[in-house]
Amino acid sequence: MRDFFCKYQLQNIFATQLRIMVDALLGLQWGDEGKGKIVDFLANEYAIIARFQGGPNAGHTLYINDKKVVLHTIPSGVFHPNLMNVIGNGVVIDPVSFQKECEEIESHGIDLKKVLIISERAHLILPTHKALDKASELSKGKNKIGSTLKGIGPTYMDKTGRNGLRVGDILQKDFKERYDALKDKHLTILQQLNFDEDINQWEEEFFASIEELRKHTIVGVEFYLNDKIVSGKKILAEGAQGTMLDIDFGTYPFVTSSNTVTAGLCTGLGIAPKWVNKVYGISKAYCTRVGSGPFPTELLDEVGDLLRKTGNEFGSTTGRPRRCGWIDLVALQYACMINGVTDLIITKADVLDGMDRIGACTSYTIDGVNTNQFPYDVTNKIIEANYEYVNGWDKNLADCKIGSDLPQSFLNLSAMIEAKTGTRISHVSNGVGRDQLIQMI
Ligand code: GDP
Ligand code: IMO
Ligand code: MG
Repeated sequence: MRDFFCKYQLQNIFATQLRIMVDALLGLQWGDEGKGKIVDFLANEYAIIARFQGGPNAGHTLYINDKKVVLHTIPSGVFHPNLMNVIGNGVVIDPVSFQKECEEIESHGIDLKKVLIISERAHLILPTHKALDKASELSKGKNKIGSTLKGIGPTYMDKTGRNGLRVGDILQKDFKERYDALKDKHLTILQQLNFDEDINQWEEEFFASIEELRKHTIVGVEFYLNDKIVSGKKILAEGAQGTMLDIDFGTYPFVTSSNTVTAGLCTGLGIAPKWVNKVYGISKAYCTRVGSGPFPTELLDEVGDLLRKTGNEFGSTTGRPRRCGWIDLVALQYACMINGVTDLIITKADVLDGMDRIGACTSYTIDGVNTNQFPYDVTNKIIEANYEYVNGWDKNLADCKIGSDLPQSFLNLSAMIEAKTGTRISHVSNGVGRDQLIQMI
């Protein structure tokens, strides 16, 4: 036993000194910043890609041999040979949607049983969680969150309420009894909410997909990852959603139900903060939001329509049109601060091609007072966004290969972003392709 601890301690010191560590990659806005593409680009530098929160509400888009693939629960490194993909305890899994995703990935010749491991502590989304999501949204009327209706909120509620079922439970003999007990609880609530859809119709496919889930590698991911860290393997922790949808720091209550920020990787994977090294924060060169809730820089005019059309801003998971507006540097500064972003990656810069001028919100006016601080109350106050503008450019950013190819006006916008956020831009993404990424530092 003593020998084991000595060896572990030595490896620990060795790994700390070499700074072989865990990097984080996460969204800084309201989701859909292009995280999937960037993970896919960076994946070669890592031995493991690990998702730490969220669930099938996420939609991360990749292009594999020019074919579009949208991942929901499975990490975006899955198309790279020689690396492992991990679904952490912080993720919530819908076995039905998970099975469909597996089938799509396996149609590309990937053997997921070999390259994917799942935490036994991840919580399960039951059919009744999805029903509760729907019933809860209906009961809120015009105040609805605009949830993806994937059962995310009710599942995390059962997790924190200490009622949930975990992936490890499907390996236990009493799984069906525990399922029935939780389902009965849910049915009582659903009755109170006058929900009258037939839930039994969803159960058959749920139990069929549970059988499929059992065939995957289900382990204590926290042990697996810590073991890999001390043996010198590099890990990229992949976030879902974005900081402004974080349960604590987002535009509450119009948020998701998990911690989307850097700290979420520690609780969502069982990795100690001392191992976290780089934090890649992803932001579009403008801003989008799908679902309800405050959006200070939303453009409800033809410029917003143009951004939606050029940026193809329609939800990857639900197909809903995304609301569009100028980049919000007050919110972005806040997000960089909360996450400790070391490397800021600006995506979809090419979407701004051809605009007359490009706005960036540099402060808010609230109740007649000017502020640079993202406020606590964003739902009841009227927030007026104040803008600074740069001129547009007449170049196709997609044709730029290196930083010096970028037009001066874009560099002025970048300088403004860096100055307001106090964070260096490490890359600029200028197209959907894997290789369309310009290194800036
Ligand atoms: P995620 O949820 O953060 O992974 O982002 P989504 O996949 O939901 O949405 C981002 C969308 O923008 C996807 O359709 C990507 O293919 C696309 N995209 C990513 N980066 C760029 C870029 O630099 N330029 C353009 N034009 N599209 C991009
Ligand atoms: P990725 O990982 C954009 C939004 C929903 C809704 C709110 C709550 O692709 O960036 P939920 O289903 O979690 O209860 O919905 O959060 N939302 C997202 N918006 N991208 C996402 O994920 C999102 N996941 C949830 O639209 O407003
Ligand atoms: Mg998305």
